[in-house]
Amino acid sequence: MTTAYEQLCQQLAKEPRRWLVTGCAGFIGSHLLEELLRLGQTVVGLDNFATGKQANLDEVQGLVGAAAWAKFTFIEGDIRDLETCRRACAGVDFVLHQAALGSVPRSLEDPLTSNAVNVSGSLNMLVAARDAQLRRFVYAASSSTYGDHPGLPKVEEVIGSPLSPYAVTKYVNELYASVFARAYGIESVGLRYFNVFGPRQDPEGPYAAVIPLWVKALLRGETVQINGTGETSRDFCYVANAVQANLLAATTRDGEAINQVYNVAVNARTSLNELFALLRDKLLPQLPQLRGVQPLYRDFRAGDVLHSQADIAKAARLLGYRPSHDIDAGLDVALPWYRRHL
Ligand SMILES: NC(=O)c1ccc[n+]([C@@H]2O[C@H](COP(=O)([O-])OP(=O)(O)OC[C@H]3O[C@@H](n4cnc5c(N)ncnc54)[C@H](O)[C@@H]3O)[C@@H](O)[C@H]2O)c1
Repeated sequence: MTTAYEQLCQQLAKEPRRWLVTGCAGFIGSHLLEELLRLGQTVVGLDNFATGKQANLDEVQGLVGAAAWAKFTFIEGDIRDLETCRRACAGVDFVLHQAALGSVPRSLEDPLTSNAVNVSGSLNMLVAARDAQLRRFVYAASSSTYGDHPGLPKVEEVIGSPLSPYAVTKYVNELYASVFARAYGIESVGLRYFNVFGPRQDPEGPYAAVIPLWVKALLRGETVQINGTGETSRDFCYVANAVQANLLAATTRDGEAINQVYNVAVNARTSLNELFALLRDKLLPQLPQLRGVQPLYRDFRAGDVLHSQADIAKAARLLGYRPSHDIDAGLDVALPWYRRHL
């Protein structure tokens, strides 16, 4: 049986649309760009290279080929500038708003800049989208919004208090989207991503996410550091699942599905100790020296959520979301990419 996503891909290929991807030079944004261009869509991309890279765009160009790439227009610019947002939204059907400064520790060190980009920048994008009267505004929300609520798995309606400035910014995005729906009739969908991973996720710098950071350490023979006891757990979500959720959210015609937020993950939980063992075991055939390697444990990191696991029933029911990759299948795609690039 074909899935809702497969049907959507066929339909988009027949009836191409015009999309704006903000943060298109970043990790998730570059995967959205790749999938949309593969499907023959016209795409405008906006990015200021704060954390994104020209190399990501170059890789997508190589993967999709010249004909698809010709349908891409890149705007180098900042979402903190309203006029830039307006220019990017002109003539667009759907916005997939990914541009933001990620990372809990970054936001603890510099809350002002995280707020300026994630809150004011996203508000600019909402204003520009409203005035351009485009069809749908899909935006990257975050599992960090569950904050200190202990319940598992996480259901969209029950959140706790935020544990970091980053979490505040992502929750404010949801509040603004909801107010823009009520006040101006804009159609939006928020996607609460849970620990997305995959090729092109940046392994460098102080704010690297756990999978690329550890893969880099293992490939380079460096020590993997675990914050806390390693029993902290996450619902690791391969990037193709996030791409699927975005396209389904942008195009759904079900009124009940619009102006909602959705968990985007797999509904599985992997502890950091399990993740370490998984990565080591998957790299062993090429790197036999990793046999017996152990991580180093250090203090738990402020601002982090202890456990995270997504209930994905809402996205399944209203969007037809069916994750295509679990952590195992996702790592089987991501690890060869890191071996080639590191
Ligand atoms: N990766 C995850 O696990 C995860 C989890 C939850 C939420 N998110 C959210 O998903 C989105 C994408 O995250 P990612 O992992 O791809 O991160 P990323 O850092 O790779 O991508 C973010 C992109 O936004 C761009 N950007 C930043 N500030 C900008 C500005 N002022 N103007 C224009 N562009 C700007 C960056 O240059 C980068 O290309 C973000 O909104 C993030 O908060 C990610």
